[in-house]
Amino acid sequence: MNINFDGKVAVVTGGAMGIGEATVRKLAELGASVALLDSNFEAGTKTAQSVVNTGGKCICFACDVSDSKQVESAIAGVVTHFGGIDVLVSNAGIQAYGDVVSTSEELWDKVLGINLKGCFLVSKFAVPAMMKRKGGAIVVVGSVQSMSAIGGSAAYVTAKHGLLGLTRAMALDYAKNGIRVNCVCPGTVDTPMLHWAAGLDPNPQKVLDICARMHPVGRIAKASEIADAIAYLASDWASFITGSALLVDGGMLVPAGGMGFQDGGTGAATR
Ligand SMILES: NC(=O)c1ccc[n+]([C@@H]2O[C@H](COP(=O)([O-])OP(=O)(O)OC[C@H]3O[C@@H](n4cnc5c(N)ncnc54)[C@H](O)[C@@H]3O)[C@@H](O)[C@H]2O)c1
Repeated sequence: MNINFDGKVAVVTGGAMGIGEATVRKLAELGASVALLDSNFEAGTKTAQSVVNTGGKCICFACDVSDSKQVESAIAGVVTHFGGIDVLVSNAGIQAYGDVVSTSEELWDKVLGINLKGCFLVSKFAVPAMMKRKGGAIVVVGSVQSMSAIGGSAAYVTAKHGLLGLTRAMALDYAKNGIRVNCVCPGTVDTPMLHWAAGLDPNPQKVLDICARMHPVGRIAKASEIADAIAYLASDWASFITGSALLVDGGMLVPAGGMGFQDGGTGAATR
């Protein structure tokens, strides 16, 4: 059996760039008709057009995933255009920094609204369409921060932890409907989001070098490597996998005490 999505319809949120774009390209390459939902309609349309130019089936819908009316209308548009939904990749997200004292209520609501409520909303409207097809697969894009925390990132960490709970809740609720729900948890990935975050430092390259060293494999991920894992979980190859979280982190969460601790030569001598 090869992984293929011939005859399947996939929805990818935040598909204009980064991990979402790589996922759109991967699923289209594997035969899916792909609907890309993104708040950046211009970038999304460019991505969709370039997929179509290489022989794929792809359409972009303008959609802010934190707005229920926009999500309802975009999902209805996908069903009208492609006839149904088999796969949902809930990927759209933003990064934000701050502890609970320095995070404004507005920023908290924005991060939770896009990163967590956005997944609730797209699932809420896509699941009934999947039920009509008698099954499907949802892949939620979490983070290593779904299982661990970095300092000064309270809203983001909370949203990413929440996505793991939502993954498990939906996996239980819809197993009887043949809908599998899993969460991919990436380490650091080379995307516009990472370059934005690195750009907050006067020396962005230093930040990128530190990120690479945080992963035992010695580098950050390409977006296509996360897309591969998403495609796998969305495919029939993962037919007995539901409610799970797949770390795609180059070993980032393995070393006790972090890589700095390992680099320090702290082996048995300091234990
Ligand atoms: N890049 C990383 O290192 C990394 C690591 C772990 C997890 N993630 C997660 O992966 C996902 C994708 O991240 P990325 O690095 O590709 O980000 P990115 O910023 O490069 O791309 C995000 C995409 O989401 C879209 N988007 C943003 N807000 C939206 C909204 N309200 N509605 C619809 N679309 C919206 C953007 O327009 C963009 O196309 C996010 O959920 C992020 O938290 C990223």
